[in-house]
Amino acid sequence: MAKIYEALRRAEAERKQRAGGESGSTPALDWDPAPEQSEASAPRARWRPFAGRRRRQVEAATTEAYADMNRCRIALVQPDSYAAEQFRTLRTRIDSLASQRPLASIAVMSPNPGDGRTTAAVNLAAVTAMGVDRKIALVDCNLRSPRIASILGLEPRTGLAEILAGEASLEEAVIRVEDPGFDVIAVRQSPPNPSELIGSEAMRRFLEDVAQRYERVFIDTPAALGLPDARVMCELCDGILVVVRADQTPRDDVEMALDLVDRRRVLGAILNSESSPERSHAGNRGGRLR
Ligand SMILES: Nc1ncnc2c1ncn2[C@@H]1O[C@H](COP(=O)(O)OP(=O)(O)OP(=O)(O)O)[C@@H](O)[C@H]1O
Ligand SMILES: [Mg+2]
Repeated sequence: MAKIYEALRRAEAERKQRAGGESGSTPALDWDPAPEQSEASAPRARWRPFAGRRRRQVEAATTEAYADMNRCRIALVQPDSYAAEQFRTLRTRIDSLASQRPLASIAVMSPNPGDGRTTAAVNLAAVTAMGVDRKIALVDCNLRSPRIASILGLEPRTGLAEILAGEASLEEAVIRVEDPGFDVIAVRQSPPNPSELIGSEAMRRFLEDVAQRYERVFIDTPAALGLPDARVMCELCDGILVVVRADQTPRDDVEMALDLVDRRRVLGAILNSESSPERSHAGNRGGRLR
């Protein structure tokens, strides 16, 4: 794990250097002056420019939401990108570890919200499924703030909470993502009692079941610090991948998150970083198993 800290230190130094170098570049303001109006049109002029600005704000938010979705599924929308290539490298390393130990279920965890767990889980499932004849599943176990369905554009009729509550079967909840071909068990709606469901016997049975049916199952989890859910998930999985946001995750938080889990199950860390040798409109990030 010393390598993770060394990488974090380097990333922090690079970030500071970048921030210093870019201090003079303030983004341009989105200035929307009202067009000149004649006397006759004065009453309408009071709200029309506002309506135009509001519409553009909504359009910009929609465009940004779409771009964000694409960042989270980069391996699907830009399979030739540097980021997708990094995820393929991770896949190869995981496959190589799997030849030495049973590795059907892998929990993707991280200390804090926004570290990039969902991005890592979605892209790893996608690139792993690109192999020939591989049976891969992706499970959204972030019952509090599920995102996998929206990132993949799925509309689940039922999902994990219903399976755990005994209201649906695994078969009913599975959604197939064609091309590259993997199965998703998403969350339809956040339940009122996520911790109870995560810690239930039904969850243990569910994970055993998916691990038996699939060659590899990637499990997206909630942030590990502050909630018991991720720790429980990590105990139930064969392996754990720790996502570290290079420019964001404090070293102490990484330590605390690692203290919560059985370190022998930690396969490595994904250093999630915005910097990459090549950039594109969809954004790039690198992931490394250390
Ligand atoms: N390397 C990166 N470069 C740029 N943006 C990134 C990178 N990794 C993730 N993001 C963005 O950061 C946000 C959080 O990513 P993601 O949803 O994968 O994190 P998370 O750990 O699952 O968060 P949450 O705690 O909300 O579940 C998303 O908007 C995603 O597009
Ligand atoms: Mg997430």
